[in-house]
Amino acid sequence: MKLFSSFSVLASLISVLPTSHALIGADWSVTKVPLRGLNDITFPLTIVEADHISGYYFAQQFNFFGIADVGYTGLQPRPDNGGKSIVHGVFSSFVAGTTTTDPNCHTGADGGPGVSCAFEWNGEYNRTYDLEVKTSGNRLWVGTAVDTVAGTRIHIGSWTLPAGTGGILGSQVGFVEWYPWNNGEPQNHCAHLPYQKTIFGNPKTTNPGSVGTQHLAYEYGDCLGQVAFSTGKVASGMVNNCGFRGQTGR
Ligand SMILES: *[C@@H]1O[C@H](CO)[C@@H](O)[C@H](O)[C@H]1NC(C)=O
Repeated sequence: MKLFSSFSVLASLISVLPTSHALIGADWSVTKVPLRGLNDITFPLTIVEADHISGYYFAQQFNFFGIADVGYTGLQPRPDNGGKSIVHGVFSSFVAGTTTTDPNCHTGADGGPGVSCAFEWNGEYNRTYDLEVKTSGNRLWVGTAVDTVAGTRIHIGSWTLPAGTGGILGSQVGFVEWYPWNNGEPQNHCAHLPYQKTIFGNPKTTNPGSVGTQHLAYEYGDCLGQVAFSTGKVASGMVNNCGFRGQTGR
Protein backbone atom coordinates (compact mmCIF):
# COMPACT_ATOMS: atom_id res chain seq x y z
CA MET A 1 0.00 0.00 0.00
CA LYS A 2 0.99 3.58 -0.49
CA LEU A 3 0.07 6.56 1.57
CA PHE A 4 0.58 9.95 0.03
CA SER A 5 -1.09 11.82 2.80
CA SER A 6 -0.49 12.78 6.39
CA PHE A 7 -2.28 13.02 9.68
CA SER A 8 -3.86 16.36 8.89
CA VAL A 9 -5.67 14.93 5.87
CA LEU A 10 -6.39 11.49 7.23
CA ALA A 11 -10.02 11.65 6.17
CA SER A 12 -9.05 12.10 2.52
CA LEU A 13 -6.40 9.41 2.89
CA ILE A 14 -9.04 6.90 3.86
CA SER A 15 -11.24 7.94 0.98
CA VAL A 16 -8.48 7.44 -1.61
CA LEU A 17 -7.51 4.03 -0.25
CA PRO A 18 -10.78 2.12 -0.09
CA THR A 19 -9.16 -1.24 -0.70
CA SER A 20 -6.12 -0.75 1.50
CA HIS A 21 -5.72 -3.19 4.35
CA ALA A 22 -3.27 -1.14 6.27
CA LEU A 23 -4.22 -0.98 9.92
CA ILE A 24 -2.15 1.72 11.52
CA GLY A 25 -0.52 4.93 10.33
CA ALA A 26 1.99 7.09 12.15
CA ASP A 27 3.37 10.45 11.04
CA TRP A 28 7.01 11.38 11.42
CA SER A 29 8.68 14.73 10.91
CA VAL A 30 12.17 16.25 10.93
CA THR A 31 13.00 19.91 11.59
CA LYS A 32 15.36 22.15 9.60
CA VAL A 33 15.31 20.08 6.42
CA PRO A 34 17.03 21.90 3.52
CA LEU A 35 14.82 22.91 0.58
CA ARG A 36 16.27 20.15 -1.59
CA GLY A 37 15.95 17.53 1.15
CA LEU A 38 18.15 15.36 3.34
CA ASN A 39 21.03 13.15 2.15
CA ASP A 40 20.31 10.63 4.89
CA ILE A 41 17.59 9.57 7.26
CA THR A 42 17.48 6.70 9.72
CA PHE A 43 14.31 5.11 11.07
CA PRO A 44 14.86 2.99 14.20
CA LEU A 45 12.41 0.07 14.25
CA THR A 46 11.91 -2.63 16.89
CA ILE A 47 9.61 -5.61 16.46
CA VAL A 48 9.07 -6.01 20.20
CA GLU A 49 6.72 -8.94 19.77
CA ALA A 50 5.15 -10.68 16.80
CA ASP A 51 4.60 -14.29 15.83
CA HIS A 52 7.35 -15.70 13.65
CA ILE A 53 5.11 -15.94 10.60
CA SER A 54 4.80 -13.93 7.38
CA GLY A 55 2.05 -11.33 7.17
CA TYR A 56 2.98 -8.15 8.98
CA TYR A 57 4.77 -5.28 7.32
CA PHE A 58 6.16 -2.52 9.54
CA ALA A 59 7.38 0.34 7.36
CA GLN A 60 8.28 3.98 7.05
CA GLN A 61 7.57 5.99 3.91
CA PHE A 62 9.57 8.93 2.63
CA ASN A 63 9.38 11.41 -0.26
CA PHE A 64 12.07 12.99 -2.37
CA PHE A 65 12.43 16.57 -3.52
CA GLY A 66 11.04 17.00 -7.05
CA ILE A 67 8.78 13.93 -7.26
CA ALA A 68 5.51 12.90 -5.59
CA ASP A 69 6.00 9.14 -5.42
CA VAL A 70 7.31 7.58 -2.23
CA GLY A 71 9.93 5.11 -1.06
CA TYR A 72 9.55 2.62 1.79
CA THR A 73 11.87 0.90 4.16
CA GLY A 74 10.72 -1.62 6.71
CA LEU A 75 10.82 -5.04 8.32
CA GLN A 76 8.67 -8.16 8.09
CA PRO A 77 8.64 -11.25 10.33
CA ARG A 78 9.36 -14.60 8.70
CA PRO A 79 9.15 -18.21 9.94
CA ASP A 80 12.21 -19.38 11.88
CA ASN A 81 14.72 -21.52 10.04
CA GLY A 82 16.91 -24.06 11.80
CA GLY A 83 15.85 -22.72 15.20
CA LYS A 84 16.93 -19.18 14.32
CA SER A 85 14.67 -16.20 13.75
CA ILE A 86 14.54 -14.55 10.32
CA VAL A 87 13.78 -10.92 9.55
CA HIS A 88 12.97 -9.69 6.03
CA GLY A 89 14.19 -6.15 5.30
CA VAL A 90 12.59 -4.08 2.54
CA PHE A 91 13.79 -1.01 0.64
CA SER A 92 11.55 0.14 -2.25
CA SER A 93 11.08 3.05 -4.63
CA PHE A 94 7.72 3.77 -6.27
CA VAL A 95 9.28 6.43 -8.47
CA ALA A 96 8.96 5.68 -12.22
CA GLY A 97 12.38 5.61 -13.86
CA THR A 98 14.22 4.27 -10.79
CA THR A 99 17.01 1.91 -11.87
CA THR A 100 19.11 -0.70 -10.08
CA THR A 101 22.02 -3.06 -10.58
CA ASP A 102 21.81 -4.42 -7.03
CA PRO A 103 21.38 -8.23 -6.76
CA ASN A 104 18.92 -7.74 -3.87
CA CYS A 105 16.61 -5.65 -6.09
CA HIS A 106 14.29 -6.00 -9.06
CA THR A 107 12.30 -3.62 -11.22
CA GLY A 108 8.71 -2.91 -10.18
CA ALA A 109 7.04 -2.24 -6.84
CA ASP A 110 3.61 -3.56 -5.80
CA GLY A 111 2.73 -4.08 -9.47
CA GLY A 112 3.61 -0.50 -10.47
CA PRO A 113 6.76 1.35 -11.51
CA GLY A 114 9.79 1.52 -9.27
CA VAL A 115 12.32 -0.86 -7.76
CA SER A 116 11.90 -3.32 -4.85
CA CYS A 117 14.78 -4.61 -2.76
CA ALA A 118 14.68 -7.22 -0.01
CA PHE A 119 17.17 -9.10 2.12
CA GLU A 120 16.64 -11.68 4.87
CA TRP A 121 18.97 -12.43 7.76
CA ASN A 122 18.97 -14.00 11.22
CA GLY A 123 17.39 -10.90 12.71
CA GLU A 124 16.32 -10.75 16.34
CA TYR A 125 12.94 -9.81 17.71
CA ASN A 126 12.85 -7.13 20.39
CA ARG A 127 16.04 -5.66 18.94
CA THR A 128 16.25 -2.22 17.36
CA TYR A 129 17.37 -2.06 13.74
CA ASP A 130 18.26 1.38 12.45
CA LEU A 131 16.88 1.50 8.89
CA GLU A 132 19.22 3.89 7.12
CA VAL A 133 18.38 5.51 3.77
CA LYS A 134 21.35 7.40 2.43
CA THR A 135 22.86 8.89 -0.70
CA SER A 136 26.48 9.71 -1.33
CA GLY A 137 25.58 11.49 -4.57
CA ASN A 138 24.52 10.82 -8.17
CA ARG A 139 20.95 10.07 -6.95
CA LEU A 140 22.09 6.62 -5.78
CA TRP A 141 20.23 5.65 -2.59
CA VAL A 142 21.30 2.79 -0.32
CA GLY A 143 19.09 1.04 2.24
CA THR A 144 20.86 -0.52 5.21
CA ALA A 145 19.66 -2.10 8.47
CA VAL A 146 22.09 -1.40 11.30
CA ASP A 147 21.90 -3.88 14.19
CA THR A 148 22.07 -1.54 17.18
CA VAL A 149 23.29 -4.30 19.52
CA ALA A 150 25.88 -6.09 17.36
CA GLY A 151 26.78 -2.96 15.39
CA THR A 152 26.66 -4.88 12.11
CA ARG A 153 25.44 -3.28 8.89
CA ILE A 154 23.06 -5.35 6.76
CA HIS A 155 22.75 -4.23 3.14
CA ILE A 156 19.10 -4.34 1.99
CA GLY A 157 19.46 -2.77 -1.44
CA SER A 158 20.24 0.26 -3.59
CA TRP A 159 18.69 2.15 -6.49
CA THR A 160 19.14 5.28 -8.54
CA LEU A 161 16.36 7.84 -8.86
CA PRO A 162 15.71 9.67 -12.14
CA ALA A 163 17.14 13.09 -12.92
CA GLY A 164 15.38 16.00 -11.29
CA THR A 165 15.00 14.35 -7.89
CA GLY A 166 16.68 15.56 -4.72
CA GLY A 167 16.92 14.56 -1.09
CA ILE A 168 14.40 13.25 1.42
CA LEU A 169 11.71 15.68 2.53
CA GLY A 170 10.88 16.45 6.14
CA SER A 171 7.69 14.51 6.88
CA GLN A 172 5.78 11.44 5.83
CA VAL A 173 4.06 8.48 7.48
CA GLY A 174 4.87 5.00 8.68
CA PHE A 175 2.40 2.14 8.71
CA VAL A 176 1.57 -1.32 10.00
CA GLU A 177 -0.07 -3.62 7.47
CA TRP A 178 -1.28 -7.23 7.54
CA TYR A 179 -0.67 -7.82 3.84
CA PRO A 180 -2.30 -11.27 3.32
CA TRP A 181 -5.67 -9.46 3.48
CA ASN A 182 -4.77 -7.60 0.28
CA ASN A 183 -5.47 -10.91 -1.51
CA GLY A 184 -8.84 -11.50 0.18
CA GLU A 185 -10.21 -11.39 3.67
CA PRO A 186 -11.36 -14.37 5.71
CA GLN A 187 -14.73 -14.07 7.39
CA ASN A 188 -14.66 -11.92 10.52
CA HIS A 189 -11.07 -11.11 9.60
CA CYS A 190 -10.40 -8.36 12.14
CA ALA A 191 -10.87 -10.80 15.03
CA HIS A 192 -8.22 -13.06 13.45
CA LEU A 193 -5.47 -10.44 13.37
CA PRO A 194 -2.29 -11.75 15.04
CA TYR A 195 -0.72 -9.74 17.84
CA GLN A 196 2.09 -7.31 17.17
CA LYS A 197 3.92 -4.76 19.25
CA THR A 198 6.44 -2.46 17.59
CA ILE A 199 8.42 0.64 18.46
CA PHE A 200 8.85 3.21 15.71
CA GLY A 201 11.81 5.30 16.88
CA ASN A 202 12.31 9.01 16.29
CA PRO A 203 13.95 9.48 12.87
CA LYS A 204 17.59 10.61 12.86
CA THR A 205 19.74 12.40 10.30
CA THR A 206 23.27 13.74 10.15
CA ASN A 207 21.94 17.06 8.80
CA PRO A 208 23.14 19.73 11.28
CA GLY A 209 20.44 21.01 13.62
CA SER A 210 17.71 18.66 12.43
CA VAL A 211 15.61 16.85 15.04
CA GLY A 212 13.27 13.98 14.15
CA THR A 213 10.04 13.11 15.91
CA GLN A 214 7.90 10.03 15.56
CA HIS A 215 4.31 10.96 16.39
CA LEU A 216 1.65 8.74 17.92
CA ALA A 217 0.05 6.10 15.75
CA TYR A 218 -3.58 6.07 14.64
CA GLU A 219 -5.87 3.37 13.34
CA TYR A 220 -7.61 3.44 10.01
CA GLY A 221 -9.11 1.03 7.53
CA ASP A 222 -11.86 -1.51 7.83
CA CYS A 223 -10.76 -2.92 11.22
CA LEU A 224 -10.99 0.43 12.96
CA GLY A 225 -11.89 -0.09 16.62
CA GLN A 226 -11.81 -3.91 16.30
CA VAL A 227 -8.17 -4.94 16.78
CA ALA A 228 -7.36 -3.84 20.36
CA PHE A 229 -5.14 -1.05 19.08
CA SER A 230 -3.06 0.99 21.49
CA THR A 231 -0.28 3.55 21.10
CA GLY A 232 1.88 5.65 23.37
CA LYS A 233 5.09 7.63 23.60
CA VAL A 234 8.31 6.02 24.80
CA ALA A 235 11.71 7.65 25.28
CA SER A 236 12.93 6.49 21.87
CA GLY A 237 9.74 7.30 19.93
CA MET A 238 6.34 5.65 19.66
CA VAL A 239 5.08 2.23 20.71
CA ASN A 240 1.96 0.61 19.27
CA ASN A 241 0.25 -2.74 19.42
CA CYS A 242 -2.77 -4.43 17.94
CA GLY A 243 -4.19 -7.87 17.30
CA PHE A 244 -4.71 -11.01 19.34
CA ARG A 245 -2.27 -13.66 20.53
CA GLY A 246 -2.81 -17.09 19.01
CA GLN A 247 -4.46 -15.82 15.83
CA THR A 248 -3.01 -16.50 12.38
CA GLY A 249 -4.86 -13.90 10.31
CA ARG A 250 -6.83 -16.65 8.59
C1 LIG B 1 12.05 -6.59 25.20
O1 LIG B 1 13.21 -6.05 25.79
C2 LIG B 1 12.92 -5.25 26.93
C3 LIG B 1 14.18 -4.53 27.35
O2 LIG B 1 15.34 -5.24 27.05
C4 LIG B 1 12.35 -6.15 28.01
O3 LIG B 1 12.05 -5.39 29.16
C5 LIG B 1 11.07 -6.77 27.48
O4 LIG B 1 10.54 -7.68 28.42
C6 LIG B 1 11.31 -7.49 26.16
N1 LIG B 1 10.04 -7.86 25.59
C7 LIG B 1 9.82 -9.06 25.03
C8 LIG B 1 8.45 -9.27 24.49
O5 LIG B 1 10.66 -9.90 24.94
